[in-house]
Amino acid sequence: MDAAVRPHIHLPVYGSPEEVVASLEPSYPVFCVRRHHISAVAEQFLEGFPGDVLYAVKCNPEPHMLKTLFDGGIRHFDTASLAEVALVAEQLPGATSYFMHPVKSRAAIRSAHQVYGVRHYVVDHVTELEKIAQIIPKGPETVIVVRVAIHYEGAVYELSSKFGAPVAEAIALGKAALGLGYRYGVAFHVGSQCLDGEGFIQGLQLVDEVIRGVGTDPVCVDVGGGFPGEYLNSMGQEMESYFSSIQKGLSSLSLPEDCTVMCEPGRALCVDGESLITQVHLRKDDALYLNDGMYGSFIEEKYNLHLPVRPVTTRSFSDAHQEYTLYGPTCDSLDIFPRTVSLPVDLEEGDWIEFDRIGAYGAACRTHFNGFFANTFVEVTNNFGES
Ligand SMILES: Cc1ncc(COP(=O)(O)O)c(C=O)c1O
Repeated sequence: MDAAVRPHIHLPVYGSPEEVVASLEPSYPVFCVRRHHISAVAEQFLEGFPGDVLYAVKCNPEPHMLKTLFDGGIRHFDTASLAEVALVAEQLPGATSYFMHPVKSRAAIRSAHQVYGVRHYVVDHVTELEKIAQIIPKGPETVIVVRVAIHYEGAVYELSSKFGAPVAEAIALGKAALGLGYRYGVAFHVGSQCLDGEGFIQGLQLVDEVIRGVGTDPVCVDVGGGFPGEYLNSMGQEMESYFSSIQKGLSSLSLPEDCTVMCEPGRALCVDGESLITQVHLRKDDALYLNDGMYGSFIEEKYNLHLPVRPVTTRSFSDAHQEYTLYGPTCDSLDIFPRTVSLPVDLEEGDWIEFDRIGAYGAACRTHFNGFFANTFVEVTNNFGES
């Protein structure tokens, strides 16, 4: 594929957001990619996690993110739609996709299998397994990964009310998959932004119950995502403590040597990889009208994860700060930040503000609502707030 149809891989490089602003004077939002953070966390996972690391593509499918993770050694990808499977196949030759959405269309299953050769499919209900069995020939080359539900309160976003089978159903699914001639695995997801490692230990206890109930060793155990990012109001533990909890949980299971342990981190791998420069388009008393907002890249603020914020120092600002109400650019009055933000008292129309740690779910969840769509990506080599 030629470079013209693979945008956002070869990004222009600047030393800092200040340099970006000096060069572009952007009236549109600009994502500042910090590849060094993405590479560092990829290395941390590859060295510390006791198994295969699958990047959860949904969290940030931007080409620069996939490429940086791939270059950093990530070779496995948790894909949740046919479009994601295709993206990985086209952009990252040699990478392996795993179809980890428990509900898939027949067309997606067929193409994933026939066109892209995907071998792993998650299920959490017997009708999904029956659907797969009508499309993918029975045989051990296909692995049915049974997702068991876990309700862990230590995670900020729970993911098991929508997906995951109770243990008894998970056992029945594992047996049914084997009965159909497939191999099987077991997965769970503790919930996103999980604040300690205990959820993984509990999840692995459920996995143990499922394996004992099925009575046959699985070919893979997948501990899902949930590894946290560091927000102003929500911080998890050191990543190593999650890895040692997982190690501890695994040691109480007697898995065979050839059983592959996997994880599916999204947020942790990409959260620090992007910040966003926004511009003030109007100041009205204590309110700032910005060019990005709730329908744009700020889904995490919308759901109460607070991003670090600072003015881009294109000029000197007062040391005195005040609380501002922040509005996004659309005509919708719901387009308002759910919290006020402390910034210098002398901010004016035309100034720029940088929000850090927007790499997870920010760009992925932005919309085109009202004609606004942040789609400029540059690379910066400094750290947030460093001159
Ligand atoms: C099946 C699955 N795996 C992995 C992830 C990534 O989770 P996180 O970003 O919390 O690591 C998600 C997020 O929704 C998911 O649904």
